[in-house]
Amino acid sequence: MKRRIGILTAGGDCPGLNAAIRGVARAAYETFDAEIIGILDGYRGLIEGEFRLMRKQDFSGILTLGGTILGSSRRPFREMRLLGDDNVDKVAAMKKTYEDLKLDCLVTLGGNGTHKTANLLSEEGLNVIGLPKTIDNDIYGTDFTFGFHTACEIATDVIDRLHTTAASHGRVIVVEIMGNKAGWLTLYSGMAGGADAILLPEIPYDIEKVAEVMESRARNNKAFSIIAVAEGAMDKKEAKLKRKEREAARKDAGFHGIAYRIAEQLQELAGVEARAVVPGHIQRGGTPCAYDRVLSTQFGVHAADLIKKDKYGYTVALVGNEIVHNKLSEVAGISKLVPEDHQMVDLARNIGISFGD
Ligand code: F6P
Repeated sequence: MKRRIGILTAGGDCPGLNAAIRGVARAAYETFDAEIIGILDGYRGLIEGEFRLMRKQDFSGILTLGGTILGSSRRPFREMRLLGDDNVDKVAAMKKTYEDLKLDCLVTLGGNGTHKTANLLSEEGLNVIGLPKTIDNDIYGTDFTFGFHTACEIATDVIDRLHTTAASHGRVIVVEIMGNKAGWLTLYSGMAGGADAILLPEIPYDIEKVAEVMESRARNNKAFSIIAVAEGAMDKKEAKLKRKEREAARKDAGFHGIAYRIAEQLQELAGVEARAVVPGHIQRGGTPCAYDRVLSTQFGVHAADLIKKDKYGYTVALVGNEIVHNKLSEVAGISKLVPEDHQMVDLARNIGISFGD
């Protein structure tokens, strides 16, 4: 039986999206009669009816390509059911595009927000399959998301390269790693890059404790230190505030990024020469590493298999060494954060890495 598959990539891009798209397409063409429609720029294309009929050759040569050939956009889930200035009922518009295109199913590649909207569409009766991508690795129900390992390689390389300047000049370098709510990327790259302190959103820090790390290293004739801080890290006082209060307090204080603030505070407290480095979107760029190419392909092929079996309302996942699928309804809306007692945290503490707590 022929199946018309809509496919979209939503939210922040990451390495491995094209490899996953290719995995879905190749397995679909190979194992059943498939027609693939590329929905452009994530849910924006689904809302506005922008799409492209894909040909088999469109999926060639994209395994190693970063970004997404379909384009992406951020359309916050919380706004999906709200009428904006344009008065468009977004959910009705997405259903209409799906029906107009006579789709048998929709494959959505994305992070937490994407999964929430995918679940909403599934509840609205559409046949949806999710694929978990994000450099944040914060999707519930999967050990890893694709994009994470590549970002980890990049962030680790950044930390490695910073070591040379830190050591040569006897400086403290505070490197800000992406991750607003989840600290997985900072935890893994901080560990891989040999950071002396790792500061995560999940473990509020005390700046005095971070300064002690520098001081104790100085006593041991180590004049330099590397601090890996997650973008969304906060100190203990800030952690007691509600998000909006915290943002307001930061605005009043002229906050312009966590790494800059920590570097300034350490200069004052520990009298060290400190620098802040923010690699930003470099962490999401470029070709996927081998692990992500394989994982993306595995996820894509599994999605095609679900389509072949007409099994919808799921998102693909890695559990242990197996590719499985979880119900969208059981995953959507839950973020996988770093538990304070996670084995990796204990392990890091056991080799002397400070979490500043
Ligand atoms: O979710 C991936 C991510 O890179 C986060 O780590 C980061 O907080 C956010 O996206 C940045 O989003 P944007 O690219 O929209 O600035």
